[in-house]
Amino acid sequence: MNFLAVSGSLRSESSNTALLRAIQALAPPGLHVTLYAGLAELPPFDPGLEPEEAPDSVQAFRDQVRAAGGIIICTPEYAHGMPGILKNALEWTVATGEFVDKPVAALSSSPAASGGEKALAWLTQTLAVMSADIVPAISQPIPFGRSRVKSNGEIVDPALAVTLEAILAGLARAVDVHTQNGGKS
Ligand SMILES: Cc1cc2nc3c(=O)[nH]c(=O)nc-3n(C[C@H](O)[C@H](O)[C@H](O)COP(=O)(O)O)c2cc1C
Repeated sequence: MNFLAVSGSLRSESSNTALLRAIQALAPPGLHVTLYAGLAELPPFDPGLEPEEAPDSVQAFRDQVRAAGGIIICTPEYAHGMPGILKNALEWTVATGEFVDKPVAALSSSPAASGGEKALAWLTQTLAVMSADIVPAISQPIPFGRSRVKSNGEIVDPALAVTLEAILAGLARAVDVHTQNGGKS
């Protein structure tokens, strides 16, 4: 089973990316988590282009989403919303439908106690209208993200490891159900 992990932050010391690194390290044998590294290369979304006219970076993103059994998105909160670069990436897949029926764990992380819940609400709304299969039981804000994981993905708070393992297990279950249903949610 393979998951694609998408961080909404480009910051080198990003706590959102660190959380995804931690998830990657916690993945059990047989489950591979790939960290998407191309967010900064995606140009601004242009609805005037036909799907096949999209640049290579966009095609590569679409291919990676399509090939993944499940997606984990972890977004920071900027001015009470998700970062424009993350919304931009999602917009490139609206017409081509890579997220349709795709099991997704939607996460947010912020240094605040709210964990970026406003960004998460926006992310969830966008994914829902794109017909993604958001897994509600594991989609959640992660409060105090910066102090609970180091930038290399090393977990400081043992309770966080429990949460992240539950996210991996819940998404794996959702992917299994999705596969049994022939790719439908
Ligand atoms: C432009 C900007 C706007 C921000 N707005 C919010 C906000 O609305 N709510 C919040 O909880 N944190 C906000 N923050 C703080 C971020 O949550 C914090 O910088 C976080 O660590 C960013 O995620 P990262 O560590 O993955 O880069 C903002 C940060 C920036 C740079």
